[in-house]
Amino acid sequence: MRTIGTELLRVDGLTVAYGDGESRSIAVASASFALSEGERIAIVGESGSGKTTLALAIAGLLVTPSARIHSEGLHFDGRELVRGRTKTLPMRTPGMSMVFQDAMTSLDPVETIGTQFGAVLRGVGKLKRRETRERAAEWLRAVGLHDVERILGLRPYELSGGMRQRVMVALAICSRPRLLIADEPTSALDASVSRDVMDLLADMTERENASLLVVSHDIELCRMYADRIIVMYHGEIVDICRASSIEEDATSEYTQALLACVPTLESSSLPLLPTLDDDFALVRQEASA
Ligand SMILES: Nc1ncnc2c1ncn2[C@@H]1O[C@H](COP(=O)(O)OP(=O)(O)OP(=O)(O)O)[C@@H](O)[C@H]1O
Ligand SMILES: [Mg+2]
Repeated sequence: MRTIGTELLRVDGLTVAYGDGESRSIAVASASFALSEGERIAIVGESGSGKTTLALAIAGLLVTPSARIHSEGLHFDGRELVRGRTKTLPMRTPGMSMVFQDAMTSLDPVETIGTQFGAVLRGVGKLKRRETRERAAEWLRAVGLHDVERILGLRPYELSGGMRQRVMVALAICSRPRLLIADEPTSALDASVSRDVMDLLADMTERENASLLVVSHDIELCRMYADRIIVMYHGEIVDICRASSIEEDATSEYTQALLACVPTLESSSLPLLPTLDDDFALVRQEASA
C-alpha cells in the first residue's frame, strides 16, 4: 500500500539558461513545485518546453558547460542543494537516481550488465564479488527478467529494447534512491511495452517507498500513473494539476488545448488527429487525397 508522506523535494524559482549575452536562451523559467515522499509526479509538455533541463537540474546532472542556473532554493531530503547563481550543480545528488529515454545510449555499450551492476552496487556498500553478482541477479528478477545469470554476462546490444529498459530501471533502483527521475522512459518503446515499463516504475518505487518524477509526452499514460501532473510550456510551469481531475484543475489555455487534442473514440475516426497552432487553437487538418 502506497502512502504519501511529507515533503521530499522542493524547487523554488529554478531558472536555467543556456549561453550568455546574445546567445542566451532560457530553457526553464522560475520553476517552483514540491514533491512528497511516495508521490508520483509527471511532467508533460511539447518538445523543447524544458522538461529534460528541469529534470537534469534537479538530479544534479546538468553538466552542459553553457548552462547557467539560478535558484531561490532547491531542497531535497532536508538538505539545501542550490541557492543563488551557479554554473555547475552538485554532481549526482545522493538519494536520487535517473532513468533515461534511450537505454542503449545510457548503458555502457562495451561492459556486461553484470559489470555495470558491480559499479553501482559497490558504490552503495562493501560487497564481495559473489555477493554483488547475487544482488544484481535479485534486482534483475525483481524487474521481471528471467534467465538472469545469462543476462548478467550479456552486453546491452544483445538485449531487446524492453529488456534494456528493465535493466536500466533495475540499475537505477538498486542504489535504493528516495527519488527516481525518469526522462521519457517509454518513448522508444511500443505501446504495450510502454505500459509494462510504467507498471514496473510504479511497482518498484512503491516497493522501495521512493517518489517518482517522470517526464513524458503521453498525457494519458501520465494520468494513469501519476498523482499530479506538471504542464510545461516554453520553459514555464503553466499548470500543476491532480491527475485524477486534470480538467477541473487546469487553469492555462495551453493545458486545456492539450487535453482537447487527446484522441477519443470520436476523433479516432478522423483521418488526421487535431494539432495545436501558436494560439492554442485546435487545427483540424484535411487529409490529402
Ligand atoms: N545542451 C544544450 N545547449 C543549448 N541549449 C539546449 C541544450 N539542451 C537543451 N537546450 C534548449 O533548451 C530548451 C529546452 O530543452 P529540453 O531538452 O529541456 O526540452 P524537452 O522539453 O525535454 O524537449 P523534448 O520533449 O524534445 O525532449 C530547448 O530550446 C533546447 O533547444
Ligand atoms: Mg527531453
